[in-house]
Amino acid sequence: MRADPTQLYRAVFNLVRNAVEALAPPDGDGKPQPRPGASVAIHAAQTTDRVSIDVIDNGPGLPQAAIDSLFEPFKGSLKPGGSGLGVAIALEIARAHGGGLALVKSDGDGATFRLTLPHALDQ
Ligand SMILES: Nc1ncnc2c1ncn2[C@@H]1O[C@H](COP(=O)(O)OP(=O)(O)O)[C@@H](O)[C@H]1O
Ligand SMILES: [Mg+2]
Repeated sequence: MRADPTQLYRAVFNLVRNAVEALAPPDGDGKPQPRPGASVAIHAAQTTDRVSIDVIDNGPGLPQAAIDSLFEPFKGSLKPGGSGLGVAIALEIARAHGGGLALVKSDGDGATFRLTLPHALDQ
């Protein structure tokens, strides 16, 4: 694909950081406590016209309040000290590449975000 490596890194990093934070919520002292069996997986796939990068975790899924304003800067955060910018920035980076970002799964078994980017051959 044709992409700016630093920007693409930032988009994936923001999604992985969210997954890690969901998998290791802070205890009363603010110390991250990893859930047993916590995992984050990245699956990349290529079709004739798109490249997709899935960030898959097995955490608790997103609270409805986070889903309601997920892509709006400063609005989606439910974390103390969270900016609510991570997902919004990842979306902007995907759009700047001609692609997009979607929450494709969120339930009690985990969350999956999918970044899609156009195939370089299309550009
Ligand atoms: N993988 C995930 N699992 C559970 N909740 C998530 C996940 N990704 C995002 N969220 C929720 O969406 C909110 C918005 O994420 P983000 O835009 O990165 O802002 P921030 O991380 O600063 O709160 C988070 O506060 C969290 O509640
Ligand atoms: Mg975040």
